[in-house]
Parts: sequence; structure tokens; C-alpha cells
Amino acid sequence: MARQLVVGNWKMHGSVGQVRSVVPELARAELGSNVSICMPYPYLSLAKSLLVDTPVQLGAQDLCEFHIGAYTGEVSAAMLADVGCELVIIGHSERRRYFGETSETAARKVRAALDAGLLPIYCVGETQEQRDAGVARDVIADELKVLSGVPTSLYAVAYEPMWAVGTGVTAAPEQISEMHAFIKQTLSQHTCVLYGGSVKGNNAAHIMAVDGVDGVLVGGAALSATEFLRICRAAH
Ligand code: G3H
Repeated sequence: MARQLVVGNWKMHGSVGQVRSVVPELARAELGSNVSICMPYPYLSLAKSLLVDTPVQLGAQDLCEFHIGAYTGEVSAAMLADVGCELVIIGHSERRRYFGETSETAARKVRAALDAGLLPIYCVGETQEQRDAGVARDVIADELKVLSGVPTSLYAVAYEPMWAVGTGVTAAPEQISEMHAFIKQTLSQHTCVLYGGSVKGNNAAHIMAVDGVDGVLVGGAALSATEFLRICRAAH
């Protein structure tokens, strides 16, 4: 089995100073190519320069569905590849919640990423209300539907229950294994499925031991080299 992936997502946090302090620590830590860090656009090139000669991969947190043209403020997949990105997060719940992103848009972004040779990490997840209403699986199935026709070996899925993102509450092991099994059953048993939602240094090993977890998508804890390295070391 391939090594579990550990993907850090800095979201809209950080500064040149923080990149210069955290990224070299990751570069020195002899991590494998299963580890990646998704930076805000302005810091991608700097982070890349600090990761030279390491297998740690660089990613972005979004991209434009269009390839090139007059789309002020947007960043294309080819541009991300050009500055050294290898992966990109797509359809994160924060994009869906605050920027009106739909699964249909996200699916077009997945295709744009693939055209540029990037690994898309497509995010899905239900709200607390949807879980309480017993429709969590329907929500996930609906979010996955738009990927039909895209070979499952070309992308990863991140299961991020919205009630666990940035809240300090992680989903229970049974909830994680049940939903990961459902996602694999819906797409393919070989689909790489990451868990995201309050993964920290002190719970990463526990989460990564859950059946069906092929890695983790880490938000807040990726901003600290010490915390993030603890999570990286929990991958097997
Ligand atoms: O992309 C990362 C996820 O949204 C998880 O964020 O680890 O801060 O809960 P979090």
C-alpha cells in the first residue's frame, strides 16, 4: 500500500516571515513525497525555493476553471504547474460556503487541474444539520456525482465533515471509517480518501489508524512545524 498522504493547508494564513521559518524546518526533516503543503498563491514560489532538493510537494488551495484569458484575479492550472505545484485543493467547504462554489464548478476545476498535470484533491463533507437529518451520505453522493467519467486513480478525495473543520472536534473513528467506506464504494475501492477536520499532532496517529484512511488534510496544525511534523510522522 502507498504511504498515507499528509497535506497541509495554510488557508489564508501566513506571511513571508512564517514561510521562511516553517518551510525550511520541513525541508530539513527528511520527509517523503507523501507530504505536501498548500500555500496561499503569493507564497508558492518562495516555498518552492525553500523545498528545492526535497521530495515534499507543493500545492495550491484553488484554481480557475478556465485555461487562459481575461479573467482578472484568477490563477490558472498551468500557472500553478509553472511555479512548481504538484497538487491543488478543489471544492473546499470554505470555497463552497463563503464563495458560492458549486460541485459543478469544482468538477470543471478538477478537469483543468488534470489537464495541467496537477493532482486534484476534491473536498466533500456534510454540515452538522445534514448529519442530524440523516442525509450525510446523500450529500456526499451528490458532491461526488459530478466526478463521474474522471478516472478515480487521477484524483484524491478529502472527506471533511464541516462540523469538524476548525472546530477542535474530530469525527469519531466509526464516522470516519463509515464515510470513507461509502466514498470508496461509490467511486472505487482504490480511491485515495483523506480525512480532514481538526487533525492535530496528538490525534493524528489515532485517525490514521482508522480503516480506509489514506491520509489527512490538515488546516490549523499545518501552520506550526512542530505540530505538522508530528502528524507527518504518524503516517504509515
Ligand atoms: O483543509 C483543511 C481542513 O479544512 C481542516 O482544517 O485542520 O483547521 O480543522 P482544520
